[in-house]
Amino acid sequence: MSPRLPAPPIPDQLKSAPQRAGEGDGKKSALDHGVEAGVSAVDWIDERTSLSGGLRWMMFRKVPKGTNWFYTLGSATMFAFLSQAVTGVFLAMYYTPSATQAYESTRYITNEAFLGEFVRGMHKWGSTVMVILIFVHMARTFFFGAYKYPRELNWVIGVVLLVLTMTMSFTGYLLPFDQRSYWATIVGVNINGTGPIVGPYLSDFLRAGPEFGATTLSRFYAIHMLLVPGAIAALMGAHLYLVARLGTTAPPWIKAETSDELATDEV
Ligand code: HEM
Repeated sequence: MSPRLPAPPIPDQLKSAPQRAGEGDGKKSALDHGVEAGVSAVDWIDERTSLSGGLRWMMFRKVPKGTNWFYTLGSATMFAFLSQAVTGVFLAMYYTPSATQAYESTRYITNEAFLGEFVRGMHKWGSTVMVILIFVHMARTFFFGAYKYPRELNWVIGVVLLVLTMTMSFTGYLLPFDQRSYWATIVGVNINGTGPIVGPYLSDFLRAGPEFGATTLSRFYAIHMLLVPGAIAALMGAHLYLVARLGTTAPPWIKAETSDELATDEV
């Protein structure tokens, strides 16, 4: 058996905490048993993984003076992505990526599946919300000068996240396979084809061949639900790691205040 770590000291407030039902007569209430089971399960995992150290490092950080609501935009973008992931999983349970069945399966989701219209609506409007949030978050980091040393790499990761988010929107638009999504995607793929050097290769890759056909839809679906979300999740992890490691940038007016104070000190 591996040696147990020593138990943490009990805070004074808890020692003198008022008694609960069942306490004092030697019996434990169901709540006590529940709490003990929860604590020992968490301890059991932590003793073997030491995850709590990493969690504490990530969650309990010093933030600069003047931190405000604009700093929540990155987390808001992350929650929009998570909502897309959850609703996407439910849509994938009913959606069929075939040229003859895609439209019918989407119609089924909207009109017949339990809460289908709601989940599809969440996914559709959520995609717009995510795009708006990512742009506003990018504007915040730009205007606060957060792209400068030592955060350049996080800015570059952010740019890749932006491109991937736009790719999600583009590939998702085709999936209902109605007239609008079909023709709009043909236009989009042709625009890609006009890009310098890589353009024609990119549009061939997206079309899955020289013609827009049945294989195009399955390619878009694979990109939309596997390739790009996987890449976004991995890069989001790297992005958040760098935020935790480097800390966030103070707002420009606080930086101006601080440098004024320094200038006065030097006089
Ligand atoms: C999926 C998309 C994204 C997610 C989930 C995300 C998430 C976050 C979070 C949670 C933070 C810390 C808190 C905050 O400042 O809001 C952050 C910071 C940052 N993000 Fe993003 N972000 C995304 C896209 C972008 C984009 C498109 C850019 C720019 C091109 C960017 C550049 C930055 C920078 C430079 C910081 C550091 C801010 C500072 O030091 O004050 N991010 N991001």
